[in-house]
Amino acid sequence: AVVPVLTIDGPSGSGKGTVSALVAERLGWRLLDSGALYRAVGYAAGMAGLDLSDADAMARCAQGTKIQFRSGEAGGGTRVLVNGHDATDELRTETAGAAASAIASMPSVRQALVALQLGFRRPPGLVADGRDMGTVIFPDAAFKVFLTASAAERAKRRYKQLKEKGLSVTLAGLQREIEARDSRDASRAVAPLRPADDAVLVDTTGMPIDEVVAKVLAVVQS
Ligand code: C5P
Repeated sequence: AVVPVLTIDGPSGSGKGTVSALVAERLGWRLLDSGALYRAVGYAAGMAGLDLSDADAMARCAQGTKIQFRSGEAGGGTRVLVNGHDATDELRTETAGAAASAIASMPSVRQALVALQLGFRRPPGLVADGRDMGTVIFPDAAFKVFLTASAAERAKRRYKQLKEKGLSVTLAGLQREIEARDSRDASRAVAPLRPADDAVLVDTTGMPIDEVVAKVLAVVQS
């Protein structure tokens, strides 16, 4: 039987990460945080002192980096291990996001991560969070959602998240960084950020998380 997939794509700060995790939990399905893969490769490249603009080196790095997801202890959330090292906190920074976005524009890097992503599709189902889940990686997914929110609201959410993690950021600086990252993600030649033709669009501006979760669950249960 075909394993059902729900794709949740959208720009940073659209609520994707939180909503995907909650929906996966509610459905009892697996979760693929594809952004963490690009972040992990950028992080591994940085640790190895590689040139992030060298596409061949980045593709080799994407192939050679061991990325593992560990569900944490009670309330701890998922930890991400990069080559055996717990890099969860480092991966959350906007610096890691910017590095991820830079290497994610390289077709050879994206290609190197395809098989790994397809491997997450196992019973009873998969919630796939990213930019190109519904358009490129799982085009045959039965359920597709595209989350958006105003740029100001997305910056505010990311600001709150990063502050809670104890990171020092300014709202204005963060908004500029997020806008730069989103415009690069949307304008790149390969797998640009865009809704699949058959995706349900949900604007989460001013919408509480539980309402977004309910809307997304309704897509699967309709
Ligand atoms: O979702 P997250 O902010 O963790 O993603 C970090 C970066 O990774 C994005 O800005 C994007 O450039 C890239 N990405 C991607 N394709 C995905 C997921 C993330 O290109 N499916």
